[in-house]
Amino acid sequence: MTQTTSVPISVLFVCLGNICRSPMAEGMFRQIVEDAGVSSQFHIDSAGTGSWHIGRPPDPRAQQAMASRGIDISSQRARQIEREDFYRFDLLLAMDRSNYYRLLTLAPDVCEEKVRLFLSYAPEIGVQDVPDPYFGGTEGFAYVLQLVEFACRGLLNSALKEQAMPLSPYVR
Ligand code: 4NP
Repeated sequence: MTQTTSVPISVLFVCLGNICRSPMAEGMFRQIVEDAGVSSQFHIDSAGTGSWHIGRPPDPRAQQAMASRGIDISSQRARQIEREDFYRFDLLLAMDRSNYYRLLTLAPDVCEEKVRLFLSYAPEIGVQDVPDPYFGGTEGFAYVLQLVEFACRGLLNSALKEQAMPLSPYVR
């Protein structure tokens, strides 16, 4: 018999500014878990290690990339990671190694194992970092979208295996 969990898994996606990569990952993962019919099993959020963009919506290029997939992330607002996040979340997923090491320096010792590289959920693509697209063109955002989708699918599969969650027949 399949067992379900009543405690949601809480996932925090983390990049530098919280206006490009992590909002895209948050929006993509929300969509993927919704499609799988398991939204109630997850608490999903994103944050930045930097403070420059606190309160701002995602970069228009990030919004546009997500809109091309029918995902609206316009209501998200940037925030900076805070100490409580390390206790509140089960997983803190860094978009690149720079943010990963930053998180490890901020994390209380007992929370270090919750900090992971996001692309560790997509080992098949052989890439460790979701590159920062902020100073580049729209093609950078298209590439981020691809990486984010791969890793979000891997993350869901990993979580489903761990929790033995039943999948909706509508999962894509
Ligand atoms: P993100 O991209 O970390 O994916 O949100 C960036 C956004 C802004 C800056 C750097 C990266 N910035 O230097 O302002």
